[in-house]
Amino acid sequence: MTSRRLVLTRSAALIGAATSGLLLPQLARAQGNKIRVGLMLPYTGTYAQLGVAIENGFRMAIDEQGGKLGGREIEYFKVDDESEPPKGVENANKLVLRDKVDVLIGTVHSGVQMGIQKVARDTGVLSIIPNAGVLAATGGLCAPNVFRASFSNSQPTRALGAPMVKAGHKKAVWITWKYSAGDEAYLGFKEGFLAAGGTIVKEIAVPFPNVEFQAQLTEIAALNPDAVACFFAGGGAVKFMKDYAAAGLKGKIPLYGSGFLTEGVLDAAGAAADGVTTTLHYADGLDNAKNKAFRLAYAKQFKLQPDVYAVQGYDSGQLLVLGANAVKGDLSNKKALYAAMGGATIDSPRGKWKMSKAHNPIQDIYLRRVENGENKVIGVAAKQLVDDGPGCKMT
Ligand code: PHB
Repeated sequence: MTSRRLVLTRSAALIGAATSGLLLPQLARAQGNKIRVGLMLPYTGTYAQLGVAIENGFRMAIDEQGGKLGGREIEYFKVDDESEPPKGVENANKLVLRDKVDVLIGTVHSGVQMGIQKVARDTGVLSIIPNAGVLAATGGLCAPNVFRASFSNSQPTRALGAPMVKAGHKKAVWITWKYSAGDEAYLGFKEGFLAAGGTIVKEIAVPFPNVEFQAQLTEIAALNPDAVACFFAGGGAVKFMKDYAAAGLKGKIPLYGSGFLTEGVLDAAGAAADGVTTTLHYADGLDNAKNKAFRLAYAKQFKLQPDVYAVQGYDSGQLLVLGANAVKGDLSNKKALYAAMGGATIDSPRGKWKMSKAHNPIQDIYLRRVENGENKVIGVAAKQLVDDGPGCKMT
């Protein structure tokens, strides 16, 4: 009798406590048990579609683990960074200081990434870069808690020059958006193209995210180089390829680029993209089991064809899964977490890759050409290309 009354009394007290809010700290702790994952990506503007593909790929990798990380449930927090560099720090702080995320996945735009990098270095939050190639993130400003699952800006274009010269295109005009992604893609292009014996006739830059190319295309027509090479991506890439064709340059002056030019945009660009030749760490038709399974599953789940951004999102998820499993979900065990992530071999749809010491993928760069609405692999432009991140000192 006594014990029964005791039980009843206790439960009555518990109910009282719950309604008066006394149990809230416990509740909060239970919620705190979830791993808090922050997604900072562009969901509006010229890179909006890239952000969505990254999130889709990331979620796919987590869903393959039953939606858990190292056995723990996940809670997502999202911020649209609008590809606006001036808001980079503030947006990253929304996730890190306000939402107290355990890991920040972001972003696409190199300028915005610099804001994330500052916050990552100041707070020590785990940061996984699913696209932005800004050299400093895995170079002079590298950090033990920052890992890139994508590429560095000069990696894809470093391999572009040799196939251009081999095809007889020795005099080129380079055109890009004027910001770090374009400037650093140019560094890679210049190095590879000059080394192969090419000459750069002119470098042209338009402000990001402008998509008015008339004056520049008129100038290119007048210069009449053997080829044009460029960096554009997302909505701007579609507009550039369409304008290039409309200006009568397609079929006259071959168009080359870093492969972002033709990623995720082939339906929108239509015939304007046919024959465009690019270099990138991914191609649709890569003949490996992981790629085939990934493409099928992605198309089924999202009713969309995946692209390099989806692959990078997926690999960001795979990298986090691998790290979280190594520490059984205890992301505060940083030493073991970073060691596992830094030593990871990722079985990716792009082919297997490893982290460099500076935390950037060591990966193959493929030569691709657009044929029948697909980025076809026509060769390997560089094998296991390392960017060893000049200036990187892990402290
Ligand atoms: C970048 O800003 O680093 C960037 C953006 C879009 C791309 C590639 C790189 O497709």
